[in-house]
Amino acid sequence: MNAAFDLQRESALALDAADPLAAFRDEFALPADPHHGTAAYLCGHSLGLAPIAAAASVEQELKDWRRLAVLGHEAAERPWIGYAEQLAPALAQLCGAQESEVTAMNSLSVNLHLLLAALFRPKGQRCCVLIEAGAFSSDRHVVASQLRWHGLDPERCLLEIAPRAGEELLRIEDIEARIAAEAPRLALVLWPGVQFRTGQSFDLARIARATHAAGALLCADLAHAIGNVPLALHEQDIDCAAWCSYKYLNAGPGAIGGLFVHQRLHKRAARNGLQGWWGHEGQTRFRMEAEFRPAAGAAALALSNPPVFSTAPLLASLQQFQRAGLPALRAKSLRLTAYLEYLLQHRCGEQITQVTGTEPQARGAQLSVRVRGGRSRARAVFDALQPQGLIADWREPDIIRLAPAPLYNSFEDVWRAADILAATLQANG
Ligand SMILES: Cc1ncc(COP(=O)(O)O)c(C=O)c1O
Repeated sequence: MNAAFDLQRESALALDAADPLAAFRDEFALPADPHHGTAAYLCGHSLGLAPIAAAASVEQELKDWRRLAVLGHEAAERPWIGYAEQLAPALAQLCGAQESEVTAMNSLSVNLHLLLAALFRPKGQRCCVLIEAGAFSSDRHVVASQLRWHGLDPERCLLEIAPRAGEELLRIEDIEARIAAEAPRLALVLWPGVQFRTGQSFDLARIARATHAAGALLCADLAHAIGNVPLALHEQDIDCAAWCSYKYLNAGPGAIGGLFVHQRLHKRAARNGLQGWWGHEGQTRFRMEAEFRPAAGAAALALSNPPVFSTAPLLASLQQFQRAGLPALRAKSLRLTAYLEYLLQHRCGEQITQVTGTEPQARGAQLSVRVRGGRSRARAVFDALQPQGLIADWREPDIIRLAPAPLYNSFEDVWRAADILAATLQANG
């Protein structure tokens, strides 16, 4: 694939001209930059850009609130009572799930807690949870506090697996071996679809098989995976998963998240899960009866009526995903990321080390690179990027994360990002 690339800016422009998804870029608000008009925004792994249609989507709800007040629950153009349900078809597509297996609600850490409350039942010796040693802090806090909630000691029951000494990435065979080795005491594995720091994407099907062979459940954190890489949660037999919508789903800061519960576990989740009136079946919810009758599927885990204003942008964004189609987005993403890799290798060469793997199927949009020469040089390089029009992000002690998002990033953005990084590395040599 790399044979198709070269270092000229004109080639980036030609790649953009041939890009069938290029027009989607005009549907986003691009951050301003004094030098180039707009910044090269390679930060969709952190916060996706605003779809222009998000404003109209929110305004529609404000208008209906002003016009209808309480009557909007049923009479709004998109009735608020069924607001979260509208999202299920598009979310199910992105997750490779059945509609009844997904629901939009809360945000990610809350949803992980709700899933664990419903499905994590430590019993006797089978009371441990396995995570990766470099897990996102919130995932670790969720697991540690769930263990304490069950009267268990995280020191003993929170198991971690790190890459081999001298390696950045986890090997799938090591993950499988560790799961098998811990089988008698393993109750749950919490695993990311895409690792936030390294950008490594995992074969969730293999991890699910190993986890089930060990007699445990697999919960996936899809923060960096949804809208980024293809998912097949139902077919791959993942037990449950949660995500946020402000990264690749472009739904805005703190937007409504979502969760998945495999059909096999619906009865169990409804029986053991925490309950609120929004998880009650819709037809009889407003009878306000004492008995809780769970809604069908993952929706039984909903507690409260949905936050319409943090959901409206997601509606607009999911329509874009449906129009573009994830297969086409993934095809462009593979190419954009390969182009970024090519430019970084050829322009920044010895000055950086690529942390993310080189196997395209084992990564999403993101490339993480370590700046050589120690933390202070790395930080100086990073701090100089934004004033020159490159928005990326930083992970201690020396990692810069760059993620070209195929819905709105152009090949020219990627070229400009590599150009700015190369010049900055040179200036900070
Ligand atoms: C991998 C991962 N897990 C958990 C979270 C926490 O998300 P929230 O603030 O929506 O709970 C994030 C947020 O960026 C994340 O990247």
